[in-house]
Amino acid sequence: MPIGTQNKPLQTVMWEAGKVRLIDQTALPEKLQYVEYTDWRDVAEAIRTMVVRGAPAIGCAAALGLALGARGIIADGRESFLRRVTGIADTFRAARPTAVNLFWAIDRVLAAAAETEGNPVDLKDAMLVEALLMLDEDIETNRRLGQYGAALLPDPVNVLTHCNAGALATVGYGTALGVVRAAVEAGKKVHVYADETRPRLQGMKLTAWELARDQIPVTVIADSMAASLMRQGKIDCVIVGADRIAANGDTANKIGTYGLAVLAQHHNIPFYVAAPLSTIDTKLASGLQIPIEQRDTVEMTHIEGIRIAPEGVDVINPAFDVTPGELITGFITEKGVLQPPFGSEASVPALPSEGQEETEAKETVTA
Ligand code: MRU
Repeated sequence: MPIGTQNKPLQTVMWEAGKVRLIDQTALPEKLQYVEYTDWRDVAEAIRTMVVRGAPAIGCAAALGLALGARGIIADGRESFLRRVTGIADTFRAARPTAVNLFWAIDRVLAAAAETEGNPVDLKDAMLVEALLMLDEDIETNRRLGQYGAALLPDPVNVLTHCNAGALATVGYGTALGVVRAAVEAGKKVHVYADETRPRLQGMKLTAWELARDQIPVTVIADSMAASLMRQGKIDCVIVGADRIAANGDTANKIGTYGLAVLAQHHNIPFYVAAPLSTIDTKLASGLQIPIEQRDTVEMTHIEGIRIAPEGVDVINPAFDVTPGELITGFITEKGVLQPPFGSEASVPALPSEGQEETEAKETVTA
């Protein structure tokens, strides 16, 4: 499909005729192709191998995968059904460690089963209903947070983003790119710089593709170019997604995010994290406790199957880093622009009303 000619919104995770249907993100940008799964084990494998990736998309794919697995269980009673469902849930939990949305989603679908009266058939239905509800909620959440974020942006604006926190990383619309989309829909002139995001190149392959598809101006840069662009005054703000946010605001996101936050502070550029509340893990006091996924070093040593590193050289491949909360200007969520600490007492600065300057938005309310 030629870029920019079709505008049907992307839906990354779907349920169709009893199957889990995913956009195959490993095929992009060459082709937009879908894969359908009838076996829950293959959905778990799709998460592990990043056919589907991005924190909210992983969560929703796992929710549907668990509901799919539950449907295949032949159990004579409620207790044995719940035991077997828990086993399936454990496989999903082991797929990737960092994005808390995965664990949140699994817990929600398990809770839907546990809280439902009746026999396994009733429980299976409740699990699927819950998973489908989460898909709808994801798009609605992104639209809401997009509007809160769009109100923060000047017009015109040059936004720098890292990795892919777009429609492809969610069920649809996106978090960081949801803010971009909402600003464009509000009539603002937005240009995005997309870090290519080594080693897996989600910025170049996915962010650039989905923005170009929506005809939103985008320029891909090598990760090492951000500092120089900031120095030249070419970046007005940085907006990234998140995989897990600790109670103190420390945020795990794609490796390289921390460096951008340090650079943004040095150049006095606002640095926003756009994420649903489901990405906040209030059980973790700080980012030190966030598990960081270490991926196969072949992602570093090879590009498109071709070795680029000398044989035998040492290579590491942490998939995420943790940005200290104090470097983050604000957390753009579906409940407003929040400041840590997160828990029951998160504070929400009110949004500027029409015609009001953003800097006047000082009032705070309790979330
Ligand atoms: O390894 P990935 O591609 O799953 O990493 C994704 C990210 O780091 C995203 O920025 C994050 O999940 C937020 S997606 C809305």
